[in-house]
Amino acid sequence: EAAEKGGYEYFMLKEIYEQPKAIKETLSPRVDKENHIVLDDIKLTKEDLEKINKVMIVACGTAYHAGLVGRYAIEKFAKIPVETDVASEFRYRDPFVDENTLFIAISQSGETADTLAALREAKAKGARVMAVTNVVGSRISREADDVFYTWAGPEIAVASTKAYTTQLIAMYLIALNMGIKKGTISKEKYNTVLNELKALPQKAEKLLENKQLIQELADKQFNNQNVFYIGRGIDDHVGREGSLKLKEISYIHSEAIAAGELKHGTIALIEEGTLVVALATQDHLYDKMLSNIQEVRARGAYVIAVAKEGNEEAEKAADVVIYIPDTIDELTPVLSVIPLQVFAYYVAVARGTDVDKPKNLAKSVTVE
Ligand code: G6P
Repeated sequence: EAAEKGGYEYFMLKEIYEQPKAIKETLSPRVDKENHIVLDDIKLTKEDLEKINKVMIVACGTAYHAGLVGRYAIEKFAKIPVETDVASEFRYRDPFVDENTLFIAISQSGETADTLAALREAKAKGARVMAVTNVVGSRISREADDVFYTWAGPEIAVASTKAYTTQLIAMYLIALNMGIKKGTISKEKYNTVLNELKALPQKAEKLLENKQLIQELADKQFNNQNVFYIGRGIDDHVGREGSLKLKEISYIHSEAIAAGELKHGTIALIEEGTLVVALATQDHLYDKMLSNIQEVRARGAYVIAVAKEGNEEAEKAADVVIYIPDTIDELTPVLSVIPLQVFAYYVAVARGTDVDKPKNLAKSVTVE
């Protein structure tokens, strides 16, 4: 096992560091020199797409968080309304699905019982069913009409990292492909997004070279009872994933909320020293996030902000700022989640938990 860990103490850290490669391997085979997206196992034609008037993205856990970003990408690039649901809820709420619905199941393992059952239900109601999965030949991949395989490689740690970032890549490619087929995205924007996607492996690499600040923060902050993650737009979705990572492996109670919702409840829990992780990567929401940071700091919170390089104003508002390399706003989740993974990892290490096999959790939940 030590050999398999390649010198890392835990698989989770190894998998965090494998992300630049995993992103590249998921992306490169699908984009040719002329920036055409080639999705071999997705047979959805332009005509099929014209019929689709709704997309439903269903998943569990981390994969669900990738689905939230997927919703944003599909609505933005392909201009189709998208609903997201956790699989355990979807299957019991009698959702409206018909033959004009595209159902997308996201599942690292391709074996999660709830996700599989949701997929079967959508299929029975006539939906076109697509799977985004990391395991070739998994049950979910076999039952879907279309499949997108993430090429993250085997993920051993229970807490998902590289599967999540490659699921994001999958969702961006699917959304861009739909957008260009439908004509809802300009060629220029399409090329910009693709070129930025291609630059992500190198940017992720750069980000990972600099983990010292995060490690120091984790060493100081590992004794918290409660941690809050706040963000707006896709930053909120990433905050949810960061919060899940922390609670899964460190057993610290953590909650993620849309920053605008703070005032409707959660701010009552902020007191002297409460840790708040604030994501502020979205240009059009930056000022609003700075106000939210000030709001919680005025009540005593210690704020770690995540911002894009160059957005230094965050330093005036937060206690500490972690910078991610600059990219277009649509793609920041692929980068901003990385410091959150690293933070959760080092907090867990400081607390002495079994990082790769957290208590009560399983890598793949194949029973309901
Ligand atoms: C379990 C794992 C999570 C994972 C979720 C969904 O709870 O511990 O890390 O996100 O299942 O798994 P899937 O294989 O469907 O992505």
